[in-house]
Amino acid sequence: MSQVRAGILGTGHSYPQGILTNADLENIVDTTDEWITTRTGIKQRRKAAPGEYTSQFAAQASREALERAGMDPMEIDLILCATVTPDQILPSTACLIQAQLGAHKAAAMDIVAACSGFVYGLSLADAMIRGGQVKNVLVIGAEILTRYVDYTDRATCVLFGDGAGAAVVGPTEGDRGILAAKIRSDGRYEEQLYAPGGGTKGGFTAETIARGDHFFKMKGNEVFKVAVRSMSEISRDVLCQANLKTDDIDLFIPHQANQRITDAVSNMLGVDQSHVYSNIAMHGNTSSASIPIGLDECVETGRVKTGDIVLLSSFGGGFTWGSLVMRW
Ligand code: ACO
Repeated sequence: MSQVRAGILGTGHSYPQGILTNADLENIVDTTDEWITTRTGIKQRRKAAPGEYTSQFAAQASREALERAGMDPMEIDLILCATVTPDQILPSTACLIQAQLGAHKAAAMDIVAACSGFVYGLSLADAMIRGGQVKNVLVIGAEILTRYVDYTDRATCVLFGDGAGAAVVGPTEGDRGILAAKIRSDGRYEEQLYAPGGGTKGGFTAETIARGDHFFKMKGNEVFKVAVRSMSEISRDVLCQANLKTDDIDLFIPHQANQRITDAVSNMLGVDQSHVYSNIAMHGNTSSASIPIGLDECVETGRVKTGDIVLLSSFGGGFTWGSLVMRW
């Protein structure tokens, strides 16, 4: 009996209409377009308007992914929504997306793994499909990070943007599908990238809000070093697991955190720039949404073709990191 393999059957993405350019940020904090561009590669990011919330963009991206997969929402068995910016504390954003889609036969839950959340979700979907527990899984990465950004902190406020991406994962035929995946985390790095307020430890009072405890705080240059090392190592691991070489990679979509991280990881792996996807200039860092948005843009523009070897690699707060390789 041949082994079941899981693969991506359809993708979609969605983001707010609002755009925050580097020129806009020059009017808000002490920064310049030149600093942001040379240090990060970012030129603009999407910003949700008041009243817009995470599950709306997630549901829109999911509808597109379902349509591309030719699938009815009732065929979905599991919804995994990766987010660190949920609509509300309870219920999960995945449940709220389920209701909007009418995917009433699915189980639904959120994954909190920061920027690695989408790769975590794909990895779990792959294992559960191959294990026979579920058939079709909707994996989403969706964030409204601009709500948790301190627009008086120039070191973080220039980085983050909003958006959502989704993928329908299901059994595949032939040799296409997920070939290897690996996820890791190390909670000892908590204070390198965190938001201390809003939970049972940091509390949620007028005082914590006034202090801005709910905003993201980051030691950027520390994160940078560990990100480059971890993304490179775990990408090499999954390529080795799948018996592939760097030369086999047709498309590399790393988490879009900083163009310099993308360049450093690509160089360490030895992937030629022509095979590396980057949309950081247009979206900034959208955390868990960055890889699925990138993947769907590659589908829409024909940058990814049947049979291509696609490598994903991510790193985020926690720290968390992960990589996955698939044949498209
Ligand atoms: N405009 C102008 N100057 C700035 C700005 C700004 N927006 N931000 C910082 N600076 C200044 C600093 O104050 C510092 O000045 P000083 O030398 O006078 O002290 C100088 O620029 C250098 O600061 P660094 O922090 O060392 O700059 P660096 O080159 O490291 O770039 C950055 C900062 C862009 C944050 C980078 O470190 C980075 O991208 N880190 C990784 C972020 C990341 O990968 N996050 C991943 C996950 S995100 C998630 O999980 C949600």
